[in-house]
Amino acid sequence: MNFLITAGPTREPIDPVRFISNRSTGKMGYALAEAAHEAGHEVTLISGPVALTPPQGVQVIDVTTACEMLHAVEAALPAADIYISTAAVADWRPATPSPTKLKKSAMSGTLQLVPNPDILKTIAPLKGDRIFVGFAAETGDPQAEAQRKLIDKQLDYIVANDVTQPDAGFVVDTNRVVLYSRASQPLVFPLLTKTELARQLIAHLLAR
Ligand code: PMT
Repeated sequence: MNFLITAGPTREPIDPVRFISNRSTGKMGYALAEAAHEAGHEVTLISGPVALTPPQGVQVIDVTTACEMLHAVEAALPAADIYISTAAVADWRPATPSPTKLKKSAMSGTLQLVPNPDILKTIAPLKGDRIFVGFAAETGDPQAEAQRKLIDKQLDYIVANDVTQPDAGFVVDTNRVVLYSRASQPLVFPLLTKTELARQLIAHLLAR
């Protein structure tokens, strides 16, 4: 099987030295890439800016912004059987990034933003027989939001993590998730290292 996985944050420039981003380290996405490769599959990993060493044997495509990530996903998708969208893609970007460093005196205190493309929604028409898996980083009602995103983003599966938990979600080496699908009941995973969770998620997807 050919896996296409996105990982890490995107960065949306304000000027050459400042950007909008989020806390994603790429650990969850890199663990999934490693687990899929370990299981004997071809893996393309599209990565936002992170400080991780790429897993051996995995083809890595580095990107910075959400628009770059979308173009890389569109280019790699035709060869993919399974797309796993672990990346924390910035939903907004500055409307007019400055080519030069903004002087404090030139800043108005207001930053004009425009929406970024939703990568999953943009590629939904290209899905065909492929399996699409999203992640949902939630701080409110993980179950309701995950189920809404499963339908809204036309996914086969969505992995919900409650990122208010200190041992789950961003940055930490562990995660605690529930896997929602269109076809079966939610599957609750216990607290696991991201490495072990990735192995179990890949095995589960392949068994399906
Ligand atoms: O990288 P780590 O530090 O290990 O942290 C892991 C993680 C918390 C980033 C990861 O487990 C996780 O939850 N990733 C998804 C984060 C996220 O952006 O969730 P969301 O609920 O905002 O988005 C839902 C889905 O839509 C995601 O699959 C996302 O990749 C996708 N999306 C979002 C926005 C956008 N413009 N395009 C998208 O495709």
